[in-house]
Amino acid sequence: MNTKKIYLIPFETTHIQHLHKWLNDEQAMRMVGRTPLTYEEVVQEVEKKRMNDDLILGIETNEQVLVGWVFLKDIDHAHGRASIGILLSSEARGQGYGQIAMKKMIDLGFKQLRLNKIYLTTRGLNEQAIALYKKIGFVTEGILRKHAYVEGKYVDTYFMGILASEWNR
Ligand SMILES: CC(C)(COP(=O)(O)OP(=O)(O)OC[C@H]1O[C@@H](n2cnc3c(N)ncnc32)[C@H](O)[C@@H]1OP(=O)(O)O)[C@@H](O)C(=O)NCCC(=O)NCCS
Repeated sequence: MNTKKIYLIPFETTHIQHLHKWLNDEQAMRMVGRTPLTYEEVVQEVEKKRMNDDLILGIETNEQVLVGWVFLKDIDHAHGRASIGILLSSEARGQGYGQIAMKKMIDLGFKQLRLNKIYLTTRGLNEQAIALYKKIGFVTEGILRKHAYVEGKYVDTYFMGILASEWNR
């Protein structure tokens, strides 16, 4: 039984220093095929999300340690859909925090924001993320072939989604 507790808290400006570290972590960069970001670039990234009315939340343990962030972006109320993203600190991965945080955010999306669909894209090489998303109930809706370039290779991108009707079941 999973007894871990986490809380989704407002993502504050003071949290950006941690996000900067997580984003520049080697595995995190490899999984999205990205180069390192300066602190200012990360600040701009967060600012862009805020301007876009994305829902950005911090993931905190019951010991009040910030272990990651999770967000809903491209929130489209007319069509009732949004895209979800998550990043944990390297120390917090592999302990089940990802699953609890995703479930809490999906719950908010369906039960507070009245979304009908939550979707995401992930690189085909991100086996841990894909395993997690499938376990939560996401369905692979399509595979974009050789859609990204990571470490000298073109890799597939998975498009996955979950509907409110599937979540409530
Ligand atoms: C992806 C991420 C959010 C997953 O959260 P997490 O808390 O680390 O998830 P877990 O370690 O509990 O893994 C989830 C499942 O994947 C499985 N898994 C782990 N590594 C795996 C691998 N290499 N291959 C297949 N399955 C794997 C785990 O066994 C677990 O299933 P289980 O609960 O049945 O044992 C987190 O690792 C992370 O932030 N990674 C870096 C950033 C990233 O990749 N973000 C997603 C971009 S789309």
